[in-house]
Amino acid sequence: MFLRSEKLLIPLEKPASPDPNGAAAIQELLGGKFGEMSTLNNYLHQSFGFKEKKKLKPFYDLVASITTEELGHVELISTAINLMLEGSVPEGEPVDAPLEDAKNLRNTHHTIVGGGGHQVMDSMGHFWSGEHVFSSGNLVSDLLHNFFLETGARMHKHRCYQMTTNQAARDVIGYLMVRGGVHQAAYALALRKVTGVEITKMLPTPNIDDSKIPEARKWQAIGSHRKLYTFSEEDYGDVAGVWSGPADWADGEELEVIQGTPEHATEGPVVGECRSLFSPDYAPEEIYEIAAQLMKKGGISPLQPNDGLHSRFQGSTSDSIGASAQPGRKTTPSTPKSKKK
Ligand SMILES: [Fe+2]
Repeated sequence: MFLRSEKLLIPLEKPASPDPNGAAAIQELLGGKFGEMSTLNNYLHQSFGFKEKKKLKPFYDLVASITTEELGHVELISTAINLMLEGSVPEGEPVDAPLEDAKNLRNTHHTIVGGGGHQVMDSMGHFWSGEHVFSSGNLVSDLLHNFFLETGARMHKHRCYQMTTNQAARDVIGYLMVRGGVHQAAYALALRKVTGVEITKMLPTPNIDDSKIPEARKWQAIGSHRKLYTFSEEDYGDVAGVWSGPADWADGEELEVIQGTPEHATEGPVVGECRSLFSPDYAPEEIYEIAAQLMKKGGISPLQPNDGLHSRFQGSTSDSIGASAQPGRKTTPSTPKSKKK
C-alpha cells in the first residue's frame, strides 16, 4: 500500500508568466512513451507481478522503491504543466470569444478538456497507454528494459529542457535529470549484480553531463545523484544490496540508501482558478465558502449523501471566510492556512 504526503519532492515557484506551448511540449515527459507515467507504471506493475520477491529481495526492493519515487515524479511534472498553463487564457465575456487565442495553442485539450490543466498524454496529444508497460516476469529482461526506459527518459528531458526557458519546467527537469540518472545507474548496477555485465561501459548512452545544467548541478552538489530513497520508514532497506559501494559517476563517492523520503520535499505552490474555464466551477466563491465553513467546523466527518450540506450552510455568510481559505495566487506556499486538519 502507499502513504501520501501533501508535499512536492522539490520546492517549486510559480513561473513569472504562462507558457502554454511549453506546457504542451513537456507533456511528453508526463504521458509520452518514455514519460513519468511510463516509468511509474512499468515499475509499479513489475513490482506487483514480481516472482519470488522474498528470495530476490534486493531487486524487488529496488523496483518497489523507485516505483514510489516515480509517483512523485508524475506529480512534479503535472504540477509544472499546470503552473505553465495558469493564466494562459484570459477572462472575458463569452460573446467576446475570450478563448479565441487558445485555438492556436499547441494543445487545445488543455483548455477544452482540462479546464486549464494537464492531460495524461504526450506532446502530440496521444493519450498515455498501458501498452507502454513491459512486465515480463523475467528479472534480467525487466531490468534491461528499465535501464533503456531511463535512458530514453533522460534523453527526452534534455531535449525538452532546450525547448523552454520557463523556470518551473527547468527546475523540474533539472531535478528529474539527476533522479533519472540515479535510476538508470541503479538498474545498471542491478544488471551487473545478476549478470556481471557492465552495461554503462558497453553502452554509454546518452552521454549527458548533468553538471552543465544549472538546475541539475545544484542537486548534484547536495549528493542527490548518489542517493536512493526507500520512501518507507521501515521497508525496502534491502535495496542497499544493489545500491552500495563507490559511484564512478560521482568521483567515487559512496552510494547511499536513505530510509525514508527526501529531506527537501516541501509544500508546493497552489494553482489558481480560471473562471472562464469553469475551474473550479461557475461560481467559485460559493464553493470557497462551503470549504471555508467545513474547515471552520473542523473535525466533521467526510460528507455523506444525506449530509444536508447545502441547507446547513446556505446563506450563512456571517462568519468571516477570509482570503486564507481561498485557493489561488493569494495563498502562498509559505502560508498554508488552508491546511488546518
Ligand atoms: Fe522519473
